[in-house]
Amino acid sequence: MSVASLNGRDLLSMADLSADEIDALLELAADMKAGKVAPRCQSVKVLGLLFSKASTRTRVSFSVAMYQLGGQVLDLNASVTQVGRGEPTIDTARVLDRYLDVLAIRTFEQAELETFASYAKIPVINALTDLEHPCQVLADLQTVKEEFGALKGLTLTYIGDGNNMANSLLLGCALTGMNVRIACPSGYEPDRAVVDQAKTIAGEQSEVSILTDPEAAAKDAHVLYTDVWASMGQEEEATDRMKVFQPYQINEHILGMADSKAIVLHCLPAHRGEEITDSVMEGSQSRVWDEAENRMHAQKALLASVLGVGI
Ligand code: CP
Ligand code: NVA
Repeated sequence: MSVASLNGRDLLSMADLSADEIDALLELAADMKAGKVAPRCQSVKVLGLLFSKASTRTRVSFSVAMYQLGGQVLDLNASVTQVGRGEPTIDTARVLDRYLDVLAIRTFEQAELETFASYAKIPVINALTDLEHPCQVLADLQTVKEEFGALKGLTLTYIGDGNNMANSLLLGCALTGMNVRIACPSGYEPDRAVVDQAKTIAGEQSEVSILTDPEAAAKDAHVLYTDVWASMGQEEEATDRMKVFQPYQINEHILGMADSKAIVLHCLPAHRGEEITDSVMEGSQSRVWDEAENRMHAQKALLASVLGVGI
């Protein structure tokens, strides 16, 4: 894949990318990180960030990536635009399309993101919805590849809530030939349609399992992954969830079930003492800071590709 091969494309779901496209993006991200290539916009390109939820990593890593490509960024936080006052999505999308070159959206409903994308001709990127977080998974895959050299045949075990992270990891692992196990309490499984989609992508080549036993899921895994037990928008359920999710913590015991060379990932922000212990997060097998850094490299590769920025 050349850097321009996603030119003009949206990234709404991890499944919008083929295995070859993921591979090429990860290679470009690695080359950028190593300083081997440094694509630059020939004319000023502008990225809009339309976020209806809080963000540290996604907001800053997208902004820095765009600046490093020679572009500019506009913060279109819902609270300072007419979006927060209810201007219809189909109107906002057509207006922003005429000003911007690329738009990253963080919102609740995947359907709202899809409406934006269908009314805006510029590339629209999913910067997190309730259903998916594909940009995070690109950085996660980059981090795993840095550690193990390749992805195919490795096993990633996600322990916790069957949320947006679980959904995008299912697709990302299936697409790259990784085995993926999700361990979650009954009633908190990932999206049914996404699980079926991941199973179809994986076919006979790799494992896609949804389990309730975290120990069985962690056995011999190469990557242990977790995320918060209550996502943004689920704050009112947090107290009830704390009880249900207690057995689904990544701690020294669970880490001991995994492969001896296993690494631990967390998309962050983390709630230490809940889904992950302090000792695992700060331990020698944690790669969470590299993972956070890779958000910037993976998204810079993605922006260069959808904008057709040449090397
Ligand atoms: N992991 C992640 O998306 O972090 P932020 O919510 O801080 O952007
Ligand atoms: N599942 C979390 C991810 C945060 C990056 C949330 O949606 O809040």
